[in-house]
Amino acid sequence: MRFKDKRVVILGGNAGIGAAAARLFADEGARLALTGRNRETLDLVAQDVCAIAVRADMGDLAESRAAIERIAQELGGIDVLFVNAGVGGFAMVSDVTEEFWDGIHQVNLRGAFFAMQAALPHLNDGGSIVVTGSIGSVAAVPGNVAYAAAKAGLRAVARIVGKELLPRKIRVNMVSPGPTDTEIFKRDASAADIAGMRKMLSGVVPLGRMGQSEEIARAALFLASDDASFINGVDLFVDGGCLEL
Ligand SMILES: NC(=O)c1ccc[n+]([C@@H]2O[C@H](COP(=O)([O-])OP(=O)(O)OC[C@H]3O[C@@H](n4cnc5c(N)ncnc54)[C@H](OP(=O)(O)O)[C@@H]3O)[C@@H](O)[C@H]2O)c1
Repeated sequence: MRFKDKRVVILGGNAGIGAAAARLFADEGARLALTGRNRETLDLVAQDVCAIAVRADMGDLAESRAAIERIAQELGGIDVLFVNAGVGGFAMVSDVTEEFWDGIHQVNLRGAFFAMQAALPHLNDGGSIVVTGSIGSVAAVPGNVAYAAAKAGLRAVARIVGKELLPRKIRVNMVSPGPTDTEIFKRDASAADIAGMRKMLSGVVPLGRMGQSEEIARAALFLASDDASFINGVDLFVDGGCLEL
């Protein structure tokens, strides 16, 4: 019960890693609020974990700020902020359009930064922020340029936010997944494409398989908890050894 009565906000808490984290936080006694875009999955997960659910697109700054204000009011403050929402997308350098680049950066970097900024006044001193990065921020994967640049930018953002929050003793850490079996690579893909992608992605992981949402979420909970009370500014790669081996 590491989060008993802690007020935990998960931005992007209705699918994949965020939904897995919601269930784990709830199991450990957290009072939860979740955001996401898909009303149906948001309500389903929120019901499951007795959370406040606010539909908000993190790429729409006005909507995102309003959601954070509402959540902070309803919870009476925030102890843990998990900035997890993100979108994927592959295009080789020569195929990247402005629209494609902006679509990814609008959510993964700009949206994540301004959501964090909006939450700061509501965060408890001594609280904790965990940001979902990606091994893509440091791995040179062809076709991943727009996503990787956004996540690399987010890594810089997390470190600087953490430095500026030192006087308030708010720890800021990042959890960076390797290939993880979630909706992110399945959206708009055929069953055959998904199977091919799973096979390819499993092949690049030294452990020989993709990660599961809960395996990433457990690392996020660790970083958010007092178990990590002396860990600040890290980027924890949870990737089956992709970068290390
Ligand atoms: N899966 C991987 O292999 C992998 C690897 C490295 C990093 N990551 C990162 O892990 C994080 C979670 O992704 P996932 O793998 O769990 O994928 P997912 O199953 O697609 O979940 C993504 C989550 O982010 C939310 N989200 C996306 N765009 C949003 C927006 N504009 N506004 C609000 N919420 C938004 C989604 O809500 P809706 O469904 O309502 O849109 C959902 O809750 C992302 O930051 C992703 O970049 C994933």
